[in-house]
Amino acid sequence: MDVIVRLPPLPVVPAAAIDRAKLALARAIGDSRVAVDADACGAFAKDESEADGRVPDIVVHAESLAHIEATLRIAEEHGVPVTPRAGGTGRSGGAIPAAGGIVLATAKLSRIKDLDRKNLLAVVEPGVVTGDLHAAAEAEGLFYPPDPNSWKSCMIGGNVAENAGGPRAFKYGTTREYVLGVEACLMGGHTVRSGKRTVKGVTGYDVTALLVGSEGTLGVFSEITLKLLPKPREIATALGLFRDSTSALDAVTAVLHHGLVPRCMEFLDPPALDALRSQGVAIDARAAALLLIELDGGHVEADLMDLGEVLSSAPGSIDVQVAQDAARRAALWEARRAMSPTTRKLAKYKISEDVVVPRSAMSELLDRVAGIGLREGVRNLTYGHAGDGNLHVNFLWNDRAEDEAVERAVSQLMDATLALGGTLSGEHGIGLTKQKYITREQGPALVQLEHGLKRVFDPKGLLNPGKIFPPDGTHHAC
Ligand code: MLT
Ligand code: ZN
Repeated sequence: MDVIVRLPPLPVVPAAAIDRAKLALARAIGDSRVAVDADACGAFAKDESEADGRVPDIVVHAESLAHIEATLRIAEEHGVPVTPRAGGTGRSGGAIPAAGGIVLATAKLSRIKDLDRKNLLAVVEPGVVTGDLHAAAEAEGLFYPPDPNSWKSCMIGGNVAENAGGPRAFKYGTTREYVLGVEACLMGGHTVRSGKRTVKGVTGYDVTALLVGSEGTLGVFSEITLKLLPKPREIATALGLFRDSTSALDAVTAVLHHGLVPRCMEFLDPPALDALRSQGVAIDARAAALLLIELDGGHVEADLMDLGEVLSSAPGSIDVQVAQDAARRAALWEARRAMSPTTRKLAKYKISEDVVVPRSAMSELLDRVAGIGLREGVRNLTYGHAGDGNLHVNFLWNDRAEDEAVERAVSQLMDATLALGGTLSGEHGIGLTKQKYITREQGPALVQLEHGLKRVFDPKGLLNPGKIFPPDGTHHAC
């Protein structure tokens, strides 16, 4: 996959500063935890976005809070940028060391320190794999709902930094809803603890809320306290096949009007269905759009019957299938979760957005995407979290000569999203990939306020520079 999003221009860090930081880090943390050769650092150049990579000068493998503190103290002393990284599975370039310098890897901080059944919470380190937390919680009859599709490899630290979502966000919300408190280290090496272990708590400013979703630009997490729920007693999955996208999306509204609250409502448009068929997934040839709907709770059987009736009586419905067993459920989800890699195989280049519009505007957005595709001559497909109005619009192309048309298409997609009352990113974050559009959504006054907040946390602009906001020439971290 070639590079689609270029790195922003950032100041070059003087080689002497890097050398001094290398020495100081090795002394403070130990040689074995500080990688400096290009081969060892090379694996930390990219994440899973379409953004360009950059090999860091130094990778610190932190194994304790003290290591994080020392790294952030030394980095500030020597004026070296730091990019925090957990699983490196992000989709917006958040973990890419855009200015070089240090990557602060927290993957080795991977302990689940507490799983408290009485108080329904977990205390974890940032390197815990999300799927491992799911399994550990479920083994205790508990439930951690956020389920980014990369749950087998993504890590809680990155999920919190990006405020990751996933299919279950429709009923249960995104990662933010589950973060009760954090221990975070700031540039300079000072650690703060914000939040609580209790269900309620309104003391002081909600610094936890500010840190969640700050994309590694304000602090580095060393410990996270997460709210858990009791594990749902039953789960059922249904598949609705429709003759077109509008019928499928109208059925989403019908389900909600019927008083059902599924935990997921996933949508695939006609080219997305074709992509799955091309990978050998058997889908009724008459279907041009699909909904994958999952229910959980205590009365799932009755709800499933209702759901079946609503879906099959919806205009444009072709067929409704119920996953009768865990194997069929797993197969359906496997296909949905593979949409991103499947799409990647369809063309040499792809860019995947994660825009959100009010649910009622999803059909209109799809119409506008079709218009954009025709106007710019760019192939596209869309799938996503229809319950949330969060759609992954993918543009696909094979020739670099089409780059400019794709860029125009993305820009028009952002404008259409905002015109329909939507937002640029539902779950992947802004990072490097969408920073040039952020002011269109937020306006200069809000962006200026955010610059000010950044300066409070990181006056020298050394923590994850080049992310979220386009460099303004004066303050490169914002
Ligand atoms: C998904 O929903 O599959 C993920 O957010 C990744 C993506 O498709 O871009
Ligand atoms: Zn998604």
